[in-house]
Amino acid sequence: MPSVYIKTYGCQMNERDSEAVAAQLVAKGYTLAASEYVADVVLLNTCSVRDNAELKAINKMENIAGDIRKHRPNVVLGFLGCMAQSRGQELIDRLPDVDLVVGTQKFHRTADYLDDIFAGRRSKIVDTAEEQGSEGTIREHLVNGNAKVKSVTAFVSIMQGCNQYCTFCIVPYTRGEERSRSIADVVAECRQLVGQGVREITLLGQIVTSYGKRGGFQSGRAELPLGSSIGDAQPRIPTANGTSPFVQLIEAVHEIEGLDRIRFTAPHPKGYGDDLVAAYARLPKLVESAHLPVQSGSDRVLKLMHRGYTRARFLEIIRKLRAARPGIGLTSDIIVGFPGETEADFSETLSLCREVEFDNAYLFKYSPRKDTPAAAMPDQIAGDLIEERHARLLATINAIGKRKYDAFVGRQTQILVEGPSRKNSARMTGRTRCNKIVLFDGAERHRGQLLEVKITRTGSFTLYGDPAIVNL
Ligand code: 5AD
Repeated sequence: MPSVYIKTYGCQMNERDSEAVAAQLVAKGYTLAASEYVADVVLLNTCSVRDNAELKAINKMENIAGDIRKHRPNVVLGFLGCMAQSRGQELIDRLPDVDLVVGTQKFHRTADYLDDIFAGRRSKIVDTAEEQGSEGTIREHLVNGNAKVKSVTAFVSIMQGCNQYCTFCIVPYTRGEERSRSIADVVAECRQLVGQGVREITLLGQIVTSYGKRGGFQSGRAELPLGSSIGDAQPRIPTANGTSPFVQLIEAVHEIEGLDRIRFTAPHPKGYGDDLVAAYARLPKLVESAHLPVQSGSDRVLKLMHRGYTRARFLEIIRKLRAARPGIGLTSDIIVGFPGETEADFSETLSLCREVEFDNAYLFKYSPRKDTPAAAMPDQIAGDLIEERHARLLATINAIGKRKYDAFVGRQTQILVEGPSRKNSARMTGRTRCNKIVLFDGAERHRGQLLEVKITRTGSFTLYGDPAIVNL
């Protein structure tokens, strides 16, 4: 059988989609290749959230077409995911070496399409159609199957799509309307993973806090066989005693015996109702860590972005979370240079970061995206000004982050050991409950263990643990 190499760009949802495609291909007999240079099929799972991400994937495909295909003309080339969805046939028109373009609701069809291409039934395939029930198709994992070692952590996709329509964001157009899987279906998948040795699960979706909120055709019944359509509208998951569907899902996953930790990403700040804050206080497996994308500290910009919260509301959520779980790890996403952002608006972002003291924040230079309202807004910010503000904000975030990380030195903390460090395989890597990476001189037998380590020093957004107090 042919071998496949999948390269993933972008977010954790994309990583998860690639894993599901790989698992589906392995189940059909394909093998996984170590690199694009030895693979019979090269698939790029793409990201559209900023122009850079699209360019990277296009350049990569150009190089592969010019280099690898010249020596091995039968290699099959494909684009998957968000850019495949937004550009479709245009990608083949631009790069005629590409054989396959598979959109975000069709990942599960990849194996069939490759079969068609290898059997000579079809040569060029583009499928970017919507498919009802597609939210239930990202379910296969590579936990123990193809991987040589057991996975300690796993990602579980609970929903697809986004209805928030932030004015800067392309995701509603590439991922479609919000559609959620059923609680029973998600729990069954988590249970199976825990049965295979997984100790920590991250619930994934574009906006997980909106889980189960949409009714109608959007909440497809996951029990339906693939390819069948949903004839009747599905009810949304009702709020029960003030508990949102998302918190109901966390509660249900929390029941699974053998599971130690629950995380989720990405939430929307407006989804942090009192029920979710309370869940942090009462559900011990829900780790004290939250990624809260604030995007800007200026109310004026937040409104233009269509974020649905104010600076004051955001700060109130942070206060409540810290009251519910002191020491909670807090990270964020921030966009620099949104159209019309003044020096005063930017100062509000700087001051919000100083006030909150995020453990870390991911900074993004605003990138106009096709067909989004912000791309047509007046007062687009010049590149050099964006660069300058980005550098100032980065220095602030790094200084605060360093202080927060340094404060761990001398403390004892629990980590879940995930495996050898990618950069230095002599070291093991684990994660604190508050989502900080800890490196320590451990051994393979520590994989999957919850260990208490003493933090001895810090690196850049990394902690080093002392193996001396670890029961080696
Ligand atoms: N330009 C820059 N950053 C963006 N993001 C989303 N869209 C854009 C854009 N057009 C950022 C947001 C989001 C993160 C995943 O990517 O900060 O939270």
